[in-house]
Amino acid sequence: MKGIILAGGAGTRLHPVTLAVSKQLLPVYDKPMIYYPLSVLMLADIRDVLIISTAEDQPLFQRLLGDGSELGMRLEYAVQDEPNGLPEAFLIGADYVGDDSMALILGDNIFHGPGMSDFLRDSRRDLDGCVLFGYHVSDPERYGVGEVDENGLLVAIEEKPQQPKTNRAITGLYFFDNRALDIAKNLTPSARGELEITDVIRPYQQEGRAKVIDLGRGFAWLDTGTHDSLLDAGQYVQVLERRQGVRIACIEEIALRRGFIDADACYRRGAALTKSGYGEYVMETARREREAR
Ligand code: DAU
Repeated sequence: MKGIILAGGAGTRLHPVTLAVSKQLLPVYDKPMIYYPLSVLMLADIRDVLIISTAEDQPLFQRLLGDGSELGMRLEYAVQDEPNGLPEAFLIGADYVGDDSMALILGDNIFHGPGMSDFLRDSRRDLDGCVLFGYHVSDPERYGVGEVDENGLLVAIEEKPQQPKTNRAITGLYFFDNRALDIAKNLTPSARGELEITDVIRPYQQEGRAKVIDLGRGFAWLDTGTHDSLLDAGQYVQVLERRQGVRIACIEEIALRRGFIDADACYRRGAALTKSGYGEYVMETARREREAR
């Protein structure tokens, strides 16, 4: 399975903060926003990831993450010229994905909660069609909204409906089999003038092959779309990290735990960031791993 992080867009709702910097590079407490979706893909054991951004931002993402080899990953980069809609990720990424299946995650989506690695890996292993992740929200009209039957299969999906039939938002993480590439090729823009992800999902739904996994109450799916919600997300991370003394979305720690890198490589990454608490944490994680062996 290949991973795609869609990290383009103009970030207009965060102007002037995003006039000069991509939204997905802004800090969410102690790390850049893109670390969070990247860590989700890593937890799903995905090591090949394409990062799609605007042309201006691409060198910045490359400076931040490089070719991924220090994390035991293979990162590649591609450009989206205009934010023409999420399914454009499949047009841009078609050659990259080849015959494989894919996980698409939006670069501004933050997930945190218990059991995430397990259900990500299960979803990946059992993929037959597509797998979506639902989340109960108070404002479903802002999202793709799904209706699900008693077997957890999607029976209807609408993009930002004025009168949502349920409170189940379909979050910005999607697992698709290879057919999504063909579906995306034949889409036409919606009334909003964009290609819609819901139009990629609908053929799967009509065949009864769109499974929805609901993220439960103990789970956080955080919004970063406005100044307030971005600050809230940072504070959520701060509260948990300070209280527990562990870091959320520490990509070096995940790479180590998943066996992508060894303790020495992890330590080197930490040592390069040694003046920050983040670097100290990465080094300490590596030290503990060495001791445990
Ligand atoms: O966050 C989940 C929601 O994401 C889903 O529930 C919706 O079904 C889905 O359409 C999408 O809705 P949004 O209104 O959040 O999409 P937005 O246009 O804000 O784009 C989400 C992120 O993806 C944003 O950080 C910018 C990036 N993006 C967006 C578009 C349309 C791109 O990189 N390229 C694009 O063409």
